[in-house]
Amino acid sequence: PRCFAIVPCAGVGERAAAGGPKQYHPVAGQALVAHTLSALARVARLDATLVVLSPSDDQFERHVPHFGGEHAWVARVGGASRAESVLNGMDELVARGAQPHDWVLVHDAARCLVEPAWVDRLMAECEDDEVGGLLALPLADTLKAGASGADGAARATTTVDRRDKWAAQTPQVFRLGLLQPALRHALADPVTAAAITDEASAIEALGHQPRLVVGNYENIKVTWPGDFALAERLLRTRA
Ligand code: CTP
Ligand code: MG
Repeated sequence: PRCFAIVPCAGVGERAAAGGPKQYHPVAGQALVAHTLSALARVARLDATLVVLSPSDDQFERHVPHFGGEHAWVARVGGASRAESVLNGMDELVARGAQPHDWVLVHDAARCLVEPAWVDRLMAECEDDEVGGLLALPLADTLKAGASGADGAARATTTVDRRDKWAAQTPQVFRLGLLQPALRHALADPVTAAAITDEASAIEALGHQPRLVVGNYENIKVTWPGDFALAERLLRTRA
């Protein structure tokens, strides 16, 4: 089987509040997504990478001018949710000849710290797996359920047992023939669609158990305003 990467890059970056989509915010001299794509370009096992952009995107070519060619594809088929963007990206892969037994490796544009070695490890650990899997970290922090108190302050209501909890990262890798129907099924109903925040959750909803492969603390998803400076510091220590 071949392995195709999908990079969902069609979000608006509301939480990052960067005055525009966070994937184009400059970090260590380049747009955030340019770092992500150059890491994926160094993964030899990938046959091609498809970036999913919003239909109204007018920034990608300017920020990532060298992306393109036989193994670097762009599709302006981003949807209203991440899951829709990924599902539409899979339709594009099928149109380009991808088969049900091929692997689809989904990686957030916003996880610009990813290292090729981590992607390789995930793919190596999953290649003989019937389901597929994801990078994730056993939860280190104590986990609190929170609620807004009478005074408006955030307050802990209970402590959730963390011993069986993992924090899911990307990449996540599944066979196209499993992931496509899983996302289609999850998106068909608004209640399940809202609960699908990664590929693995759609696979779990069909009763399968994705493999958890230990990821890395540096594989952060730039989400909040302060994450740009953190990503910048991490990238600079590698340069
Ligand atoms: N994404 C996408 N299509 C969407 C929503 C998100 O392709 N409709 C992508 C984002 O561009 C990002 C990845 O999915 O690379 C992870 O999503 P997230 O970190 O939530 O990014 P945003 O949705 O842009 O941020 P926010 O939720 O804060 O608005
Ligand atoms: Mg989002």
